Amino acid sequence: MRKRSNYKQPRKSKHSYNKPKEKKEFYTKENIFVSRMASILLLPKAEIVPLFSQRAKTTIRLNPLKGDVKKTKNSLIRKGYDLEQIPWEENTYFVLNKDKNEVSQSREYEEGKFYIQNLSSILASVLLNPQEGEKILDMCAAPGSKTTHLAALANNKAEIIANDSEISRVNSLNRVVDQFGVKNCKVTLSDGEDFGKKYPVSFDKVLLDAPCSGEGMIYMRGPKPLRFWSIQKVNRYSQIQRKLIESAFLTLKHGGTMIYSTCTLEPEENEGVVTYLLEKYPNARIEEIDLHPSIKHEKGITKWSGNKYHPEVKKTIRIIPSSEMMGFYIAKIFKE
Ligand SMILES: C[S@@+](CC[C@H](N)C(=O)[O-])C[C@H]1O[C@@H](n2cnc3c(N)ncnc32)[C@H](O)[C@@H]1O
Repeated sequence: MRKRSNYKQPRKSKHSYNKPKEKKEFYTKENIFVSRMASILLLPKAEIVPLFSQRAKTTIRLNPLKGDVKKTKNSLIRKGYDLEQIPWEENTYFVLNKDKNEVSQSREYEEGKFYIQNLSSILASVLLNPQEGEKILDMCAAPGSKTTHLAALANNKAEIIANDSEISRVNSLNRVVDQFGVKNCKVTLSDGEDFGKKYPVSFDKVLLDAPCSGEGMIYMRGPKPLRFWSIQKVNRYSQIQRKLIESAFLTLKHGGTMIYSTCTLEPEENEGVVTYLLEKYPNARIEEIDLHPSIKHEKGITKWSGNKYHPEVKKTIRIIPSSEMMGFYIAKIFKE
């Protein structure tokens, strides 16, 4: 008797004959990032890496809450600071001949007499236009760049709640508030998503400078520039931002104004989040933003990658990354 062989002929699929070999294409993270940015900013791909490779100019905001700003300016000039005034914001200057590291070691900085802050971030507080006597919520406030600016713009006479959900960042926020002479400010550690329920219809102004995928801060000449960036992150943040914007809107008084800002360029984290709010709350209105001609920006976009956004988002703005301003998005929202 012939022994049965254990060998089994491989089964040939009818599809396996003459099938052309699939050509596998591999995309690096950089390829994906570049394609996305090119299609969001409507620029040729070749322009993306250079756009994200510009060194940011050192920008300082003199702090009127810590002494006379004229005296601070004069003492910096005496030390050889080459200051260029920003045309649309008083007390704000480029330092043309010093890097951030150097200015952060000066005595004036230690004493809180000036703050080092990118112009895009400065713009968000300027557009919120805080006034004396107002109740203001800074929902995601750490480390406190915008909190200190809001307090300065309102001459320390606004009542500010500066909140963050991370304990280590709240500690830095407390230090910054103290160092830069902010008064009438309560620092809280809480999830911003809960504010809408805890403090409904309570604030004249709200700043929601949301956690985001941070594309506006990417510097392509740095070491592993895309290590913190991923599409999963973009998707995850867009869900968190929806909850935060709804909560922020609920805390706003009728007739109040809020700023929604991110340092990212992704439509799903920007126009997508604003559209979500507009569709859910018919009393949310987008306000037109008037900018100084020197600010390079684009209007919000109403469709991207198969997604359609509310036509009103055209009134929102996207700051194009440059050496003067990091990539940023701002929407100004009014509650009827
Ligand atoms: C873009 S940063 C804020 C920067 C700050 N506004 C400034 O100008 O210095 C976003 C902040 O949101 C905080 N955050 C993240 N999720 C939050 C949440 N659910 N509630 C409150 N804060 C949150 C983060 O800890 C982070 O400090």
